[in-house]
Amino acid sequence: MTHYKTLGLVNTKEMFRKAMEGRYAIPAYNFNNMEQLQAIISGCIESRSPVILQVSKGARNYANQTLLQYMAQGAMEIVKASGHPIPVALHLDHGDTYELAVSCIETGFSSVMIDGSAHPYNKNVELTKKVVDFAHKHDVTVEGELGVLAGIEEEVSHEASHYTNPDDVEDFVKKTGVDSLAISIGTSHGAYKFKVKPGEKVPPLRFDILKEVEKRIPGFPIVLHGASSVLQDYVAMINQYGGHMEGAVGVPEEQLREAAKSAVCKINIDSDGRLVVTGVVRRELAKDPKNFDPRKYLSAARDELKAMIIKKNREVLGSADRA
Ligand code: G3H
Ligand code: 13P
Ligand code: ZN
Repeated sequence: MTHYKTLGLVNTKEMFRKAMEGRYAIPAYNFNNMEQLQAIISGCIESRSPVILQVSKGARNYANQTLLQYMAQGAMEIVKASGHPIPVALHLDHGDTYELAVSCIETGFSSVMIDGSAHPYNKNVELTKKVVDFAHKHDVTVEGELGVLAGIEEEVSHEASHYTNPDDVEDFVKKTGVDSLAISIGTSHGAYKFKVKPGEKVPPLRFDILKEVEKRIPGFPIVLHGASSVLQDYVAMINQYGGHMEGAVGVPEEQLREAAKSAVCKINIDSDGRLVVTGVVRRELAKDPKNFDPRKYLSAARDELKAMIIKKNREVLGSADRA
């Protein structure tokens, strides 16, 4: 067993307490490779933001769980040596089984999500509680989920969304003992979150549901998944250099800023990072067809991703200068 504390990581408890008090949200960025991790860590050190590094089941399969674990450990050495250490949590994103959550906890994760949202309510409660019971023995924090987000990802696939029913949240939190709760208020995973005609605005998130949830569980940390804004500059860059992503839209940044001031303490961002990397790699290769050195086009993508992260922390999450 590698306990996360020996690696210098923290769980999400103190992070969320401060975020709730300071009316901002902690960024949770997904990583699958070295360049993404470098951009997240250096971007968060430079903007002095606490951060949650997220690893999905798909990321573990892609990059190899042992390698990912050691990459996160390496990142912590860089954080410690930076002269301005920031709080970092290593989090399992959308864990779907007890065994996966246990495996992550035993290999240095400080936080896990158990996503039982596709199960009937009672099964979700049972699975989540089982994970909480194990995790809390090791001082690891647990995120549960109520309500279903629409959207299709490699490992996360739901055909339709159902908003979270505020009548369920108090009972769920009480019965499971979770430390934070992901809710469904109109966001979805991926780059095609809403179907809108050109010039039409995307529908607002269901802040009424969020408010009702806050009333039922005052001061309890809420998590927003599917919170990429689907940055249009990078969608345009992808389309300009041979891609095809017509109609890709996300959650407007002003709505996320509003959410960050509420009980939403964690905002998950993956797709925006994918768009940045893909746009820049396409541009670099198109501009210099003789370039066959991955270090050249990936370093350009990494620099742009770092800049995006700093901007998000400063202008959307409000997490900059909080570490
Ligand atoms: O919510 C899903 C995340 O964006 C992770 O996606 O399962 O394709 O790694 P993934
Ligand atoms: P996006 O696809 O909107 O980036 O959502 C990421 C997410 O929720 C990871 O769990
Ligand atoms: Zn998610």
